[in-house]
Amino acid sequence: MKQQVEAYIANNEERFLEDLKGWLRIPSISTLPEHKGDIQRAAEYAAKQLNRIGFEQVQVIQTQGHPLVYGEWLQAAGKPTLLIYGHYDVQPVDPVDLWDSPPFEPTVRNGNLYCRGACDDKGQTMLVMNALESLMTVNGTLPVNVRMLIEGEEEAGGESVEHYVKTYPERLRCDATFICDTHMPSKDIPALISGLRGIIYTEVEVRGAKSDLHSGSYGGVAPNPLHALAIIISRLKDADGHIHIPGLYDKLRKPTATEKQFWHEDPLHINEALLHEMGVAQLSGELEYPPMERIWARPTLEVHGISGGFVGEGAKTVIPAVAKAKISLRLPADLKSGEVLPLFERAVKEYAPPDVQVTVHNVHGGEGVLVSADSPAIEAATAALKEVYGKEPVFIREGGSIPIAALFNDVLHAPVVLMGFGLPDDNLHAPNEKYSLDQFYKGIRTVASFLERLGG
Ligand code: BES
Ligand code: MN
Ligand code: MN
Repeated sequence: MKQQVEAYIANNEERFLEDLKGWLRIPSISTLPEHKGDIQRAAEYAAKQLNRIGFEQVQVIQTQGHPLVYGEWLQAAGKPTLLIYGHYDVQPVDPVDLWDSPPFEPTVRNGNLYCRGACDDKGQTMLVMNALESLMTVNGTLPVNVRMLIEGEEEAGGESVEHYVKTYPERLRCDATFICDTHMPSKDIPALISGLRGIIYTEVEVRGAKSDLHSGSYGGVAPNPLHALAIIISRLKDADGHIHIPGLYDKLRKPTATEKQFWHEDPLHINEALLHEMGVAQLSGELEYPPMERIWARPTLEVHGISGGFVGEGAKTVIPAVAKAKISLRLPADLKSGEVLPLFERAVKEYAPPDVQVTVHNVHGGEGVLVSADSPAIEAATAALKEVYGKEPVFIREGGSIPIAALFNDVLHAPVVLMGFGLPDDNLHAPNEKYSLDQFYKGIRTVASFLERLGG
């Protein structure tokens, strides 16, 4: 990285942190309708930041859902164009009483910034903008052409951005894409992500009698939707972690020998770290597969919540008329959400006892992605990480989902760089989400170096 750029970053670290804090104070929770105004404010905050850097065509684009923020700087004639993606929406914060400081009051403790969105994804998106500002201010130009697209619906399924990318691919023309929304295995093991899983998220609704019933008067002859749901769930996945959805595993491709070896040898001691991160004594799931394969390359099924019947204090002898469960599947890239959903629906109906009616609602879905290691953008990112962390990055998968990555691959035909600076203990989606300040500042430097290198 150029010396003047390094000096600019060093001199502005505190200001960069203030930029981030201002954004974090806006509770832009995308799944809760009462935060619609905050969503709009968070979008405008990002647009203002892009304007300040000197981006052009900066717009808050209204959609059917939450607004997109777009800005571009395309004055680097003859240089490649990089499309950078981030999201300004965040997850809900409950249970609030488990937070050690208010979820939307950014607070620094022990070198970490605590706040919802500190890492996912305001912190990671802000550091990219800070890097862009540093390059632009020092050089009066950027080393490559840049389009920036920031969405506000990622945590709610990302429908609007999907629609936008599919409708206006020419507005997003680029040679490569860059998403800063992932992790490194630890603070001194830099990483580029080679694969993400896709997801289908559903709500299964089970109905029995036309209304709630007295369990004494009708127990013995009444259908119980809650119990039916328990039966369905237990048949979908057994105690050994095997999913019983006929056809699910058919298209799953075998991993490469290199990946298999990495999973078996576990040179980064990820298995040990997983126990520690979760605070458990043993790992669950399909024991015949190594843990990394289970998280990164196997489909999984999880129940997120079950509702129905009586959950208040005391007792109420009722047989509920309705019960619901939120159930999702994570899908390695070979398994397509559109193909798995009907298989899931068929299995749910097959496992349902005959005395209830079951409906499967599709809440949202997205595809997984595999990244090839040989693009010039990956090379530039590799060199940048090496410069800042003093170590060659590892090229590993993540189990989480960023559906836009597959979309960029398929619709824009541009290779994606998944380079993020989160750490495994950042508590994403959980109480006390945090971002390491050291990672934040290193991230700014890495991204600045990445862009310089991409420009040649
Ligand atoms: N940034 C995460 C994805 C992620 C999680 C990357 C963990 C690396 C490690 C992203 O914001 C996210 O939470 N995605 C959702 C997608 C879903 C709502 C479509 C997820 O994975 O649950
Ligand atoms: Mn994210
Ligand atoms: Mn997230």
